[in-house]
Amino acid sequence: MEKLAIDGGTPVRTKAPIIETDVFEQEELDALIEVAKSKKLRRAEAALEYERTIAEWFGAKHAIAVSSGTTALHIALAAFGIGPGDEVIVTPYTFVASDTAVLEQNAIPIFADVDPVHLTLDPEDVARKITPRTKAIIPVTISGSLVDMDPLMDLCKKHNLWMLEDACQSLGAKYKGQMVGTIGHVGAFSSITGKITNTGEGGFVVTNDTDLYEKMWGYTDFARRRSLGPASKYHWDLPCTNYRITNMQAAIGTQQMHRAWDMIHKRTENADYLSEKLADVPGIVLPAKSEWGERVYFYYLIRLIPDVLGTDMLNFAVALAAEGVYNLRYLSTTRWMIPQHLEPVFVNKAGYGGTKCPFECPWYEGNVEYYEGLCPEAEKACGEVFWLASVHPLLEKEDLDDIAEAVKKVVNAFIDKKEKGIPINYATDAHRAIL
Ligand SMILES: Cc1ncc(COP(=O)(O)O)c(C=O)c1O
Repeated sequence: MEKLAIDGGTPVRTKAPIIETDVFEQEELDALIEVAKSKKLRRAEAALEYERTIAEWFGAKHAIAVSSGTTALHIALAAFGIGPGDEVIVTPYTFVASDTAVLEQNAIPIFADVDPVHLTLDPEDVARKITPRTKAIIPVTISGSLVDMDPLMDLCKKHNLWMLEDACQSLGAKYKGQMVGTIGHVGAFSSITGKITNTGEGGFVVTNDTDLYEKMWGYTDFARRRSLGPASKYHWDLPCTNYRITNMQAAIGTQQMHRAWDMIHKRTENADYLSEKLADVPGIVLPAKSEWGERVYFYYLIRLIPDVLGTDMLNFAVALAAEGVYNLRYLSTTRWMIPQHLEPVFVNKAGYGGTKCPFECPWYEGNVEYYEGLCPEAEKACGEVFWLASVHPLLEKEDLDDIAEAVKKVVNAFIDKKEKGIPINYATDAHRAIL
């Protein structure tokens, strides 16, 4: 049995750390220089071109480029007219922005559980969570995994709800042949560095609904009314803020969209390669392909089977980091999901100004509590699903080989220890404290 690096053995990877970077080629640089030379750095023609490119790419009527995926979610909820007293059904297995976006509208996030295979909203639990106050559903296609949209869309029709697809991690995924993000009323995407396309910071929405488009356009830019043309500047008749993207980001974004399919396919190729290499490894479950269409890959997730490995995920994560294939520094940011309903903001019902608004706001006639056991499948997944690696297009085969070898090595050693009754105690209190 090969000695684990954490036990004093040789790490699988001793060469330079695996880079996690974005594709940024001459085309992006040229586009950026062109904007700089034009001296039009703020939102202008380059942003309009980016929006046209995005809309065409999706075959959607409209796209609006904004400052982030978070603000993309905000403008959609604002355009839906979500406000105090409303509930929006969200998923706990996501990045916090998918859920706190609802708070920005002074509305209440209601968590439904996920299905254990795809880690996306379970339509049956969503149905159970609908009340007369429910106004919208926000499913998240987490790490490119699909969500079963048909039953969710049926619920929207039946209860007259808005559907906001948080597709920030799933550019290019298709549900039953339809582009994810174009099935509901609005699709929201992020292009922050590390995402499938990147503009440093940035995001966008796509929609086929012209009325929503007009409203979202306004909420991006001080609630201006596009129809008023230049005069719109002096008609601030709604709460408003500035979520605009710059021409610099947009110019990069247009080039990213031109190469998007290549990058998406390369990610899938990398994920498939890892799946091939890890196919026979006991004690782990590999990412599911989808029965509903073509998923994509943001990160490559593996589910650990604690009973087989004889330990929890933290020991695994610490031992794997020692093998040199990922940096423990990223444990709590990109490798480990926390059930969002158990984050202090929800458990403590923390509002702005030290209040408990909107949770205990007089406009809200419901009663919401966030506690352990609320979403058992999501809670279980958070303790068992490890975000093993980004599968970005610049990874080399050798990087993927190292990742797969390190997983095999740790798994084999853990199973061996379990059989011999050797306790596994690599995770310290300091490690537990960062989660
Ligand atoms: C699922 C999901 N939703 C929303 C966001 C927010 O996007 P941004 O970081 O661009 O604000 C992200 C990513 O960061 C995300 O992964």
